Amino acid sequence: MKVGNKHYQSIWLDESDPSIVRVIDQQKLPFYFETKELRSVDDVFCAIDEMTVRGAPLIGATAAFGIYLATLEINSLTDVPDHLSNAARYLISCRPTAVNLSWAVNYVLEKLNKGHSSGLLSEKALAAALEICEKEKENCRQIGTYGLELIESISKKKNGEQVNILTHCNAGWLACIDYGTATAPIYLAHEKGIPVHVWVDETRPRNQGSKLTAWELGQNGIPYTLITDNTGGYLMQQKMVDIVIVGSDRTTRKGDVANKIGTYLKALAAYDNNIPFYAALPSTSIDFGISDGLKEIEIEKRDPEEVTNITGYADGKIQSVRICPENTLAANYGFDITPARLITGLITEKGICKATEQDIKKMFSDKFS
Ligand code: MRU
Repeated sequence: MKVGNKHYQSIWLDESDPSIVRVIDQQKLPFYFETKELRSVDDVFCAIDEMTVRGAPLIGATAAFGIYLATLEINSLTDVPDHLSNAARYLISCRPTAVNLSWAVNYVLEKLNKGHSSGLLSEKALAAALEICEKEKENCRQIGTYGLELIESISKKKNGEQVNILTHCNAGWLACIDYGTATAPIYLAHEKGIPVHVWVDETRPRNQGSKLTAWELGQNGIPYTLITDNTGGYLMQQKMVDIVIVGSDRTTRKGDVANKIGTYLKALAAYDNNIPFYAALPSTSIDFGISDGLKEIEIEKRDPEEVTNITGYADGKIQSVRICPENTLAANYGFDITPARLITGLITEKGICKATEQDIKKMFSDKFS
């Protein structure tokens, strides 16, 4: 998507040096637009762990490039299968909730398990990582097209009046490769001249909404209003929200959705106010091997300091300030589970389906064994 007048993806191979993977440093946004070089498996692990890159599809693509960088570390003394499986285990251990991480690493390993020479291994690994990027871009384009129909039908019902969309966290192009998931229909609607406005949840504790979603929408001229995470329920009661669209880090075969902490509370409020609630996700974010989200999805617990402190910009620099008494005990769960019963539908690259096993199976029959 556009940054200023230039088109950017969230990750790309350095044009002049194929041993360097470049990413947008999302820890610096919206205050600085900087890119970061990833040159090793360790660089990739740190970028995912410290959330220089984040968002399920981008975490997957970055880890795929991590396996590629691992092949560049191979020399004549390397035990190749050992080296690659160690790199894979290390990368997959980085963050537990987004299924794209293990999906992408295993996708690349499968491409390599064909006994290629070490030189060819890098070529194959790079091709697989780039393929994942192209596939995810296409997935998001399709999600945009199907999601657009929802916005168009609300716009029609409102006789062309502004459609108000609430979103939580950042499920935009920064979290994917391009276009985004939850944001893709919004970008397409805006492009088509349909009046839209986005309620952007700040999304404590790391504020992906106020920092990343607000920045993305602003760069692309889309009207938005920043709100605290506790405001959405009131806006829904006041009929100021027409539809909620969020992303997903891991969706089960029965339609339970794991997404940024706070999503479940938005789904409850939407359900109570009869407002359509959609999760937009590529099939790479569906874990077809599990059913019960509450029992089977591991929820990431992160550093409590992300809760006791808040990071922002002041006096010309990015800085962290404490927002509670010293030595305050804090809990920092990164995600929650929205049960399928609260979800109106899933917007996927193959179309919109109900959050039921039957409907997901109909849409992705090849994934069901
Ligand atoms: O902790 P994050 O920033 O990686 O969490 C991101 C989200 O919860 C997104 O909504 C999700 O990954 C979908 S991104 C298309």
